[in-house]
Amino acid sequence: MNTKEFKTYADKEQFVQGVFSNIAKNYDLMNTVLSFGQDYFWRKFSVKAMNIGPHQRVLDVACGTCVFTKEALRQEPTLKVEALDFNSEMLDQGRVRIEDAGLIDQVNLVQGDAMALPYADNTFDAAMSGFAMRNVPDIKQVLSEMQRVVKPGGKVVVLELAKPSMFGFKQLYNFYFSYILPIIGKLSKDNSSYAWLPESLRRYPHQSEILEIWKSLGYENATYHELTGGIVAVHEGVVPENSIVNNK
Ligand SMILES: C[S@@+](CC[C@H](N)C(=O)[O-])C[C@H]1O[C@@H](n2cnc3c(N)ncnc32)[C@H](O)[C@@H]1O
Repeated sequence: MNTKEFKTYADKEQFVQGVFSNIAKNYDLMNTVLSFGQDYFWRKFSVKAMNIGPHQRVLDVACGTCVFTKEALRQEPTLKVEALDFNSEMLDQGRVRIEDAGLIDQVNLVQGDAMALPYADNTFDAAMSGFAMRNVPDIKQVLSEMQRVVKPGGKVVVLELAKPSMFGFKQLYNFYFSYILPIIGKLSKDNSSYAWLPESLRRYPHQSEILEIWKSLGYENATYHELTGGIVAVHEGVVPENSIVNNK
């Protein structure tokens, strides 16, 4: 499918499913290579921002291969994590990671759609998501769903690629995305899947515009942190007592 032809939400979801089915086996390696190993620090920062406590219940939206889930359990080993993704190949890789780490008793892997989370209101103490928002058909809908399923006072934290503004980083980043990434894509078996990475980022709003979406949903203390010169942004907000997305 030509990515310019997303006429419906279903079109985009179908395309994104195909991308992640194709790259699931190489995802972890590519993640580390493409981020120059920085993704570990970005995730560590993001999990800290959730302020999770012992024995809490946390949701990892679009968990993929469960790297974020594992980092949350590293920081707070008594957590119960619900790890949700709509792609079975990514979930399979995630299951292997969680089983190998001996964490399967604390993690429930679920196949589901971030646009319509299969949970009752106020189920979780906190929710997080990493590198997924570029891939969903409607960011506001997913942030609204995350707000709905998290208890009032709980944190929602989202890590995603951003648009760097710091001089030097911006130029380097543009060069990397315009020239280096396409070469990596051509060398891989599936050029079109790797072409989606820069394309999805090009379509993704600036981090300041994403913040406006958080504010429009009534998240309290909504803010974002730019890391590594703004290569990624971590948005966070607190679920309000009187949420506008349900009758909290
Ligand atoms: C770039 S990967 C990120 C995986 C993981 N969160 C991480 O931090 O490495 C994006 C993930 O989002 C998932 N995804 C995309 N759209 C989704 C949706 N609507 N519902 C559930 N999962 C979705 C994909 O299947 C993929 O596993």
